[in-house]
Amino acid sequence: MDLFNFIKSNIDILNVIGEYTSLKKTGSLYWKGRCPFHHEKTPSFTVSPNKNIFYCFGCHATGDVINFIEKIEHLSALEASQHLAQRYNLELPKNLQAHTGSHTQKTYYQLCYAVASWFNTMLLKNHIAMLYLQKRKIQPSTIAHFMLGLFPNGNHNIQLLINHISSQGFSSNELIDAHILLRGKQGLYSPFENRIIFPIKDALGQICGFGGRVFITNDTRPKYYNSMDSSYFKKGKILYGLDSAKHEIQKNQISIVVEGYMDCIALWQYGLKYTVATLGTACSQEHLQQLTKHTQTIYLLYDADKAGQQAMLRLTAFCWQLDLELKVITIPTGQDPASMLESAINIQPYIDKAEDIFNFFVQIKSKTFQQASMKQKMEILHELLSIIAQINNNLKQNILLMKASESLQIPLEILKNEYTSLYKVKEKTTLETKNNKQASTPKTQLEEQILAVLAYDHHVLTEKHELLLSICLSEQGKLIVQNILKHRKEHEGFCNHTIEEMITTEQGIFIRSIMFLLQDGDPKQVFQNLLLQLQKNYWKLITSNIKMKIMLAKKNHNILEVQTLLSLFEQIKLEIYKNGSL
Ligand code: GTP
Ligand code: MN
Repeated sequence: MDLFNFIKSNIDILNVIGEYTSLKKTGSLYWKGRCPFHHEKTPSFTVSPNKNIFYCFGCHATGDVINFIEKIEHLSALEASQHLAQRYNLELPKNLQAHTGSHTQKTYYQLCYAVASWFNTMLLKNHIAMLYLQKRKIQPSTIAHFMLGLFPNGNHNIQLLINHISSQGFSSNELIDAHILLRGKQGLYSPFENRIIFPIKDALGQICGFGGRVFITNDTRPKYYNSMDSSYFKKGKILYGLDSAKHEIQKNQISIVVEGYMDCIALWQYGLKYTVATLGTACSQEHLQQLTKHTQTIYLLYDADKAGQQAMLRLTAFCWQLDLELKVITIPTGQDPASMLESAINIQPYIDKAEDIFNFFVQIKSKTFQQASMKQKMEILHELLSIIAQINNNLKQNILLMKASESLQIPLEILKNEYTSLYKVKEKTTLETKNNKQASTPKTQLEEQILAVLAYDHHVLTEKHELLLSICLSEQGKLIVQNILKHRKEHEGFCNHTIEEMITTEQGIFIRSIMFLLQDGDPKQVFQNLLLQLQKNYWKLITSNIKMKIMLAKKNHNILEVQTLLSLFEQIKLEIYKNGSL
């Protein structure tokens, strides 16, 4: 049994999916709930524990438990399997452990967890640090939720930390490798000492790094010290709080992005549990992309001066490409979300007044526009037009041109002329794409059922089926089969890859969309029956095709090929006779 099958047969799909959407039993075979992949009011998302698959009647998302985690967490099949094994404490058989390569990673995350829990205990014991958090109105339940901590000062505490992690099977060297401790001239020390600690989790909830904030009044060190970037911890990618916020983001279909740990924590405590924070870097496309897995509506609650208009500009174009609704919340200068909530200023009205990012941008620009020199004016104008040009929707483009014309006080006509002269609008030939699509869709439900078995377990397919399938399947079906067999050849027969790794993304999307057609029963048997059906249906086509191939092989004096084809021909004939009809 390979890793994927091991995971699938040892993990309850209802448990896993139940973590992302609540499921209710309907009838004897299915469970139903709201689809976690698209926004909907009435549930159209079904899970079949018998077949071990899910299917959404709304967005047609479908697959097995591994596909589910791949899709919802944006992981590869292998990563999704590793995640499931860890999350559900699956003891992997020895022969499968090598495939996961997860040993060192698991240790690193476990170490971080052990360290974080020690920091947390230290915080709860420390009066001054607790007082600081209390002054900042952070409640004990919030401290617990974010597992906040403290690294108390001094050699004695470093020794205590080492003792603590040693009791869990780690060594001080591992703390050094993780950059939690550093080797100095006078022994070990840590930049995290005397700081309130924010354990940082990746999207899967594994602690992968730390942020530490000074809290003693006369501390002159930089306000924050963050873990160094490593293969586990990438500041430009991680969103603080995402692991616990993602369910709320999905449920409420909105997310708020803030700049600081403290802002994220304060908003969470205030009740806006779909808030996440970047780690001191500007919000990037990569950050947004992670959020778009969960929602299309994102609010940026950034310090307007600091955010960096160029970064915003890039996000503006990007959000249209992704069909994302990006809004900007502006709060009074000198405040940040945490400080507002600390002084009991109601933040909700500011959120309600959030502005579409383009409007926000045009407004900022138009403030400087009026006073700008002619050269600067042209620059600003072209900047705006260049973002508008990146949207592939005429109506949206026109609306934005109108908005720009209003804010900049330039007649619309002039703006439009400038726009068309700069960016000639290309008309798309939709007919062409339509035709292509038709040509590549499978012709029969029988074919779809065959492909559904392959999607479920491609091992049922062997080389001996190639000829038959190449005669009877549509172009798309043929290509899928060819890709699987080609991939296997390239990997010399040994291959525990999932089907998605063997076929193109487009084929993957298609194959998932039909997976629900999978028939009950042993996949091998189901596949055999379907092939038999195929032989019956395409008898004429098959015989004439094989005859022609035999003829060609004879012409080329390829005796071996002739023999193979003849025996195949006999075999197919025999099978059909044996099973009753011709
Ligand atoms: P408070 O000031 O306590 O409200 O904390 P904050 O988390 O809101 O911090 P702030 O708004 O000042 O900064 C936003 C984020 O930038 C922080 O959460 C850190 O990730 C990062 N940051 C701020 N200051 C520093 C610093 O001195 N060094 C580093 N490395 N990062 C910093
Ligand atoms: Mn702050």
